[in-house]
Amino acid sequence: MSDQSKKHISGFSKLSKMGKLRWVVENFFREPEAVLHELRSYWHEDEKQQEVLDSLSENTLSNFPLPFGVAPNFLINGRSYAVPMVIEESSVVAAASAAAKYWLTRGGFHSTVLSTRKEGQIHFLWAGDFQKWVKLFPRLKSFLLEKTAPLTASMRARGGGVLDMRLLDFSEEERHYRQLSVQFETCDSMGANFINTVLEEMAQALSAFAKREPELRTGDFQVVMAILSNYTPECLVRSEVFCSIDELGPVKNGDSPQVLAEKFCTAVRMARIDPYRAVTHNKGIFNGIDAVVLATGNDFRAVEACGHAYAARDGHYRSLSSCVIENNTFRFSLEIPLALGTVGGLTKLHPLARRSLEMLGYPSATELMEIVAAVGLAQNFAAVRSLVTTGIQYGHMRMHLTNILLQLGATERQKEAAFAYFSDKVVSYAAVRTFLEDQSQ
Ligand code: MEV
Repeated sequence: MSDQSKKHISGFSKLSKMGKLRWVVENFFREPEAVLHELRSYWHEDEKQQEVLDSLSENTLSNFPLPFGVAPNFLINGRSYAVPMVIEESSVVAAASAAAKYWLTRGGFHSTVLSTRKEGQIHFLWAGDFQKWVKLFPRLKSFLLEKTAPLTASMRARGGGVLDMRLLDFSEEERHYRQLSVQFETCDSMGANFINTVLEEMAQALSAFAKREPELRTGDFQVVMAILSNYTPECLVRSEVFCSIDELGPVKNGDSPQVLAEKFCTAVRMARIDPYRAVTHNKGIFNGIDAVVLATGNDFRAVEACGHAYAARDGHYRSLSSCVIENNTFRFSLEIPLALGTVGGLTKLHPLARRSLEMLGYPSATELMEIVAAVGLAQNFAAVRSLVTTGIQYGHMRMHLTNILLQLGATERQKEAAFAYFSDKVVSYAAVRTFLEDQSQ
C-alpha cells in the first residue's frame, strides 16, 4: 500500500470530533500534536456555543475566525446605521466607512426595493403536444395550489406564498424538456427551504396529475428535478447617491470636483463596456455586499451567482453600477438583485448573525436589501474615487505595511520607524524584511 492510499478512510463521519481531528493531524501534518493543539485553541470556550457552530456543518474540526468589523455613519433613507461587516481583506471596511461618512454630509444613500419575487422550477420530461398542458393549465394550477396549501398556510398568513405559475416548453433545445416555473413571495425569509419544500410537493402532485389526466397519459412523464432558482432578477433593489458637482470636493489629488465627476463617470462607463474591467469593478461592489451578507448570516454564494448573472443579462457582462452627470448633479447608482432573509436559517442560529441584525435594528428583509445595496454602492464609490485620483495603492499601503509588520513580528519601535521610512516608498514584503534586518544590525 502506498502512503497516499493510507490517507483514505471510510466511516470518517462516524468518528467523534476528536477522532476526526486526530486522524487529520496524524495523516496530513508534520507536527500532529502541535497542530492538534492549535486547532483546538480555536474551539469556543463555551461548549454550548461550540455545539451550535458544529451543528451548522459537517466534519467540523475547529472554527475559522474572520474579522467582524463595523462601518459606522451610514445614512440610508434618512436613517442612521452602523453596518456589521465580515471580511478578511484589509481596506474594505475602512473604505466603506470613509464613503459612508462622505455621503453623510451629502444627503446619504437613497435605496428603493423595486420587487421581491423569487422563482422555483420543476424540470420535467414529457413527450407530446405541449398544447395539451396549456389547455389543462388552469385546472393544474388549482390542483397544485390545493395540494400545497398546508405547506404554504403560514407563509400566506404572513402575506407571502405562491404568486403565480408558468408552463414553459424547452423541447426544441432538449428532447421533451418542459418546465413548471413557480413564482413566490417569501416575506422576511430568504425562502430557499420554503420554496424547495413546496416544489418537491408540487412535483409529486404534477406527476399525479399527469397520470390522472387521460390527455396527458399518452406521453411518458418524468420529473428530473425540483429546485429554487438562485437567479432572482425580480428581487431587485436600487441604491443611489447624488449631490451637486461642487459638493463633491475637496479632491485628494487636487483635481477640481468637475474633473473628478467626469473621470468618475468615465471610469464607470468603461466598466459597462469592457468585461475585464467590469469583473473587477463588480468585485469591488461585492467586497461590501458579501461582507454584510455574511455578517447577517445570509447566503453570499447565492447573492454572488445571481449578481453576476444579472450583470450579464443582456448577453454582455457589465458594471452593476451607473453614473451620470445631469444638470450639474452627480448621480451614482447601483441596481442589484438581492435575495436576503432576516428570519430563519443562519440568521437565527448563528450568534453573531443575530447580533448583526440587532446592530441594524432588526431590519425586515426589504430594509436589509436597501442597506446591503447602499454598502455595495459605498464600496464601489470608494474604490472608483481612489482609482481615478490617488490610485488604489495609496490607501492600501498603510494597511499592507501593518500586515507585513505583524507577520514579521516587528516591535512597536520598529513599526514606528517603518511607517516613517515607507511614507514615500513602495511597500513590499521583501523591502520591509530588509528594512527590519537593517534596523536590528
Ligand atoms: C479590490 O478588492 C477591489 C478593487 O479592485 C475594485 C475596483 O477596481 O473597482 C479596488
